[in-house]
Amino acid sequence: MSSQIDHLLTETRRFAPPSSFAAAAVGTAELYERAAADRVGFWSDQARELLHWHTPFTETLDWSNPPFAKWFADGELNVAYNCLDRHVEAGAGDRVALLWEGENGDERRITYAELTAEVKRVANVLEGLGVGQGDRVAIYLPMIPEAIASMLAIARIGAIHSVVFGGFSADSLRSRIDDAGAKVVITADGGYRKGKVSSLKPAVDQALADRNGSGVQDTVDHVLVVRRGGNDVAWTEGRDLWWHDVVPAASDHHEAQAFPAENPLFILYTSGTTGKPKGIMHTSGGYLTQAMFTNKVVHDIHPETDVFWCTADIGWITGHSYVTYGPLANGATQVLYEGTPDTPHPGRWWEIIQKYGVSIFYTAPTAIRSFMKLGREIPQKFDLSSIRLLGSVGEPINPEAWMWYRKVIGGKAAPIVDTWWQTETGAIMISALPGVTETKPGSAQVAIPGVSIEVVDDDGVHVGNGNGGLLVVTEPWPSMLRGIWGDPDRFVETYWEKFSAQNYYFAGDGARLDDDGDVWLLGRVDDVMNVSGHRLSTAEIESALVGNEAVAEAAVVGASDETTGQAVAAFVIIKQSYLAAHSPDGLAQSLRAWVGEQIGPIARPRDVYIVEELPKTRSGKIMRRLLRDVAEGREVGDTTTLADTAVMSVISAQVR
Ligand code: PRX
Repeated sequence: MSSQIDHLLTETRRFAPPSSFAAAAVGTAELYERAAADRVGFWSDQARELLHWHTPFTETLDWSNPPFAKWFADGELNVAYNCLDRHVEAGAGDRVALLWEGENGDERRITYAELTAEVKRVANVLEGLGVGQGDRVAIYLPMIPEAIASMLAIARIGAIHSVVFGGFSADSLRSRIDDAGAKVVITADGGYRKGKVSSLKPAVDQALADRNGSGVQDTVDHVLVVRRGGNDVAWTEGRDLWWHDVVPAASDHHEAQAFPAENPLFILYTSGTTGKPKGIMHTSGGYLTQAMFTNKVVHDIHPETDVFWCTADIGWITGHSYVTYGPLANGATQVLYEGTPDTPHPGRWWEIIQKYGVSIFYTAPTAIRSFMKLGREIPQKFDLSSIRLLGSVGEPINPEAWMWYRKVIGGKAAPIVDTWWQTETGAIMISALPGVTETKPGSAQVAIPGVSIEVVDDDGVHVGNGNGGLLVVTEPWPSMLRGIWGDPDRFVETYWEKFSAQNYYFAGDGARLDDDGDVWLLGRVDDVMNVSGHRLSTAEIESALVGNEAVAEAAVVGASDETTGQAVAAFVIIKQSYLAAHSPDGLAQSLRAWVGEQIGPIARPRDVYIVEELPKTRSGKIMRRLLRDVAEGREVGDTTTLADTAVMSVISAQVR
């Protein structure tokens, strides 16, 4: 890691925005000046200029009870109205909102007027099912237009959505439905993935299966099912409803009511350092202000002319802020693609860019690195000349991948914005402004206007240029999480206790400032892994592993991986009775599959090492650092604090 950092910090290439780009850019240097002069006033201006308020707010920020912030608290708005109706009322009803491409080649073009009408119908259906302000609705859908319509319909009636990524297992879905106490689940029979229909409804059925004796109260009254895959599904009369039976029949008259700015908008579960995922809670006015603002100035959205494409699934925060809320609040036209990048051929993404004339493209370094591996011949078969801006999100982008992205996808001209943020921050926090900043391959660079970032040491003291430390946010920001669903103590402990004296938000990332004061992200400093830009917790995977009857003990680490950034490496101790009866290879295979079933395929370990012991300190804490050395094929580091210093040579020998 340290040699990689040194390499990063000697990176001297600089790329100024093309002058034609800078001249037309939405985000200007003046924004930094306005925000520096009056940060809170700056956000108040943005909220007023960008959004429609049914009731204007009089107070911008209430930070009287940190870390519990309130933004625009006495204002009222309707989030869906801001994403839909107002564009139609302003005469943009015929503008295309969604250019949808199914993996199997199906296509739908949906205008703002059509999407608004659909959302009104869904809002009426949900209200008819008894869903109202503050109720939770779970969404478990593929990337189809109904997913976005569902999120907006829930927002429209002041309810709270909890989107669960379609790749999560029935168990993961169940724990999220239960934690939020969802009243309705919106799902599909299935969706297209990797060339075939992958079912979804059976996982919902399993998640909701009879809970007699489990102690968990079943809160779900209805399951609304979109027909997409055409696969057969089981049906529970009275509970299950087909979307095509109820939505088209509903009225498309629905007046958007005003809700308080701090009305919760959504819960999104993410991995933390313990086994239980946290329900990150976001509210309405502040979230929408920053999602829209950053999409506008960082992605440089010109709604009349641009075609935007963010490749994230709506199951992640990137899909919330830069598929649903940011682009639609801006009135942009965007591509929505259902499937995987390499189906039916490895050039599918580039073909989509060519077909729809995508001008702004936002994706993750992992995808870029896997395309690099396949070779530039594939993208070069397509006309990518419509691209004028590229974005990166989710994990550090290495300079080599950055340069490839620029040359091969960006035609050596398109600026690249490397955007750092988190589920918790709700929207982009650190990024170049593409018409202003001279970019550096590998650095996310500067806080956006109105956001205050620092790199500090363990005591919260600023490290200064040229030094490394922990990344913190020093002032509240509009799209900050407002809490962890049902667990205010965990919210305070996880993010605010470490620097409670200063009221700094602790992000969990290591970072370094270069001599210009630009930020270089160095990865997580806690037990959270980042695999292909997805957050996974070591504890969650360990608890899945020990839940298998063959496993006595397990330790999981994130090992660096050329393509996925990090990969899951598991060290497991198998119970004697199983060791005798099964081959190690067979056990490793079945444990990989087991984790996939328990959590979801993204959590499946790349490596499962069967060992006899795990390295522990005298107090019994597993030393993951040493296991990481083994998984990354390095010389094992300092073992002097181990209870038994010989254990690492045994493990190394077994792994080899
Ligand atoms: O470690 C950072 C990394 O992703 C984490 C947040 O993950 P998640 O909540 O799933 O949100 C991902 C999409 C916003 C961060 O703590 N991360 C995100 N963006 C970057 C990044 N690391 C380096 N550079 C980035 N641009």
